[in-house]
Amino acid sequence: MPEQLWMNTAQVVTPTGGPACGAVAMNRLTVIPDGAVLVRDGVLAAVGLRSELEPLISPETEVVDCGGGVILPGLVDAHTHPVFSGTREDEYEQRILGKTYKEISAAGGGIRRSVRLTRSAAEEQLFALAQARSRMFLEHGTTTIEGKSGYGLSLAEELKLLRVLNRMGQETPLEVIPTFLGAHEIPDEYREAPEAYLRILIEDMLPQVAELKLAANCDIFCEPHVFPAETARTYLKAAQALGFRLRVHVEQLTRSGGAVLAAELGADSADHLEQAEEEDLLALKSAGVFPVLLPGSVFHLGLKKYPPARRMIELELPVVVASDFNPGSSPSLSLPLAMSLACTQMRMTPAEALTACTLNAAHSLRLGDRIGSLEVGKQADFAIFAVSDYRQIPYFFGVHLVRQTIKRGRLVFRKD
Ligand code: NIG
Ligand code: FE
Repeated sequence: MPEQLWMNTAQVVTPTGGPACGAVAMNRLTVIPDGAVLVRDGVLAAVGLRSELEPLISPETEVVDCGGGVILPGLVDAHTHPVFSGTREDEYEQRILGKTYKEISAAGGGIRRSVRLTRSAAEEQLFALAQARSRMFLEHGTTTIEGKSGYGLSLAEELKLLRVLNRMGQETPLEVIPTFLGAHEIPDEYREAPEAYLRILIEDMLPQVAELKLAANCDIFCEPHVFPAETARTYLKAAQALGFRLRVHVEQLTRSGGAVLAAELGADSADHLEQAEEEDLLALKSAGVFPVLLPGSVFHLGLKKYPPARRMIELELPVVVASDFNPGSSPSLSLPLAMSLACTQMRMTPAEALTACTLNAAHSLRLGDRIGSLEVGKQADFAIFAVSDYRQIPYFFGVHLVRQTIKRGRLVFRKD
């Protein structure tokens, strides 16, 4: 790969350093007007003013015109459910007409409906869907995702989804960090005996997933009507004993002790947190757990209560924002849209939202030394937006502005 100089930008914008905690750190962006990026062997060799970088190039350097746009680090989506078959727009309509998410799932819809549809899809069919979704992530400026299983809910079906997740990362340019979410729901066949499903999870599924090395992370939907906190503790301890790292769905619909549990177990992240209260936030802070906020799911479910992002920032928690892309509560994989929601609904500044979708997201996945910012030596993952100021990215909400996406120095998406 020849050396490349990406130049003619309005701005190159990036957070830098370790996890950004607190308003000062989360707002501390490096903004380089008429900036440029020099890429060598898929790695960032220099980031700075065009006038500083131009003298460094050789006659062989490929010079790429960014059309006066803004270069950001490749977006990092730290919470997605990208492998499923079928959609649930009828449930969306039912909610608009007054039904709740919980009522729909109690009647057999919701996650269990997606499980039925996903089980009936062949592995190759799911992989074709995953490939298409990979392209969509890249089109929206996302270069790395955390991706969960969770629509299989049996050993064979969960392994199928985990294989698809792993192939998604190996056979498409998108980087995928798989998470095992066999504890997403109680499947249809165990409704009368949820403890039997828990036993299968612990005795069969966790050990197999660990042995086959299909996922390094483990997640659970901690909610009183699905997996209550006490059950979640037993399960997550078993997962930890096998070496899994924890990223958990907690305090989404009901405040039920999941955040305190995440802190007690030293989870990498506690995700959702719409119902979290002060005590929960203090526990996460003292245990060093990353809060992952998913405003798309609150928005799509038509709910009003967003997680307390401002208070988290005041408490100096390293806030992450992710899409929660899934067929039920958040069918959007656009992080620029999640940033818009973070800004207007959670009162995060555009700089905080950007830090939350890049640097902090990368650190929450323990990848902060390689991705999440434009710093010399890091992987050359970046996206070019057709705007003249980075704040226009959340400002033009719902407008597709990505012009090009670059992964490890290779162009992986270009808008015609
Ligand atoms: O993160 N809450 C649990 N899991 C997803 C929703 C999954 C679905 O409805 O299919 C979430 O919101
Ligand atoms: Fe989720």
